Amino acid sequence: MSDTNCDPTAVPHEPPEKPINGEANAEHVKNFDVDPSTGRKVPHKKANEAYLVHQRWLEKKARIEKRKQYERENRPLPKELQGVEEPDFSPLANFLFSMVFAAFVSMVIFLLAGLFIQGDLLWGYRGKWTNWHRYVPKRPMVEFTPEELKKFDGSNPDLPVLLSISGSVFDVSKGVLYYGPGGPYHMFAGRDASRAYVTGCFETHLTHDVRGLSPEQVEALERWYKFYADHNTYYKVGSLKVPPLDPNTPIPEPCHEAVNQKP
Ligand code: HEM
Repeated sequence: MSDTNCDPTAVPHEPPEKPINGEANAEHVKNFDVDPSTGRKVPHKKANEAYLVHQRWLEKKARIEKRKQYERENRPLPKELQGVEEPDFSPLANFLFSMVFAAFVSMVIFLLAGLFIQGDLLWGYRGKWTNWHRYVPKRPMVEFTPEELKKFDGSNPDLPVLLSISGSVFDVSKGVLYYGPGGPYHMFAGRDASRAYVTGCFETHLTHDVRGLSPEQVEALERWYKFYADHNTYYKVGSLKVPPLDPNTPIPEPCHEAVNQKP
């Protein structure tokens, strides 16, 4: 039969143009689709579309399977199974797809294992990769002067809390309990106190002057820098422009409070 509506293998994509099952009223029939798995009419409306797409997919899969079976048994393909093709992906595409799929499944297993074992999808990891500022377009970096930066020491609750370390300015508003007024590390806010980070002189070394530091202290300062740069919630907003240090001024004296302080 040439009429596709009567062909059991036909996959209707449009409402049939001719009456199904002898229906006379073409206008009426247009309002129906055919469920390929049952041959039943399904009202042609939006709510049924997903169902029909799924049914067509199932039906196509069944025909592909049938065709494969014919091929395995070396039997000649009946007319209705000819032209039923599986999408033809190259071996490379198949390989890449398997890799992506395997990576996806491994990731889901990894996340779920974290959730069940550690109670956290990310196994407790919080760092630069979980800092959402990383993934949003960056605002232009601001160059602060020491006077400008001072305003951001947390005294004004309407402004973010900023600090500078090694000349880079970070927004540490999420750590306001540490850096805000009354916080144990308030002295670091609104300025560059790089030296105090590694000498522990929280009163006399609140300066960016890092002359004369030992190699260990320089390393420790780098670690503190990384602490802010790789933090889960803090993020860089700019840099601090400081006047050049006069090499004739004396290097800040060590303080006795520094003893036993962790770098
Ligand atoms: C050179 C000496 C030190 C420096 C530069 C320093 C600096 C800091 C900074 C910047 C923070 C805030 C971290 C953040 O933003 O999340 C912090 C937190 C903290 N510090 Fe210190 N600190 C020093 C010494 C000490 C000492 C000697 C102690 C203990 C007696 C101590 C105990 C703490 C504690 C308990 C926290 C909170 C830790 C946390 O929640 O992870 N610190 N420190």
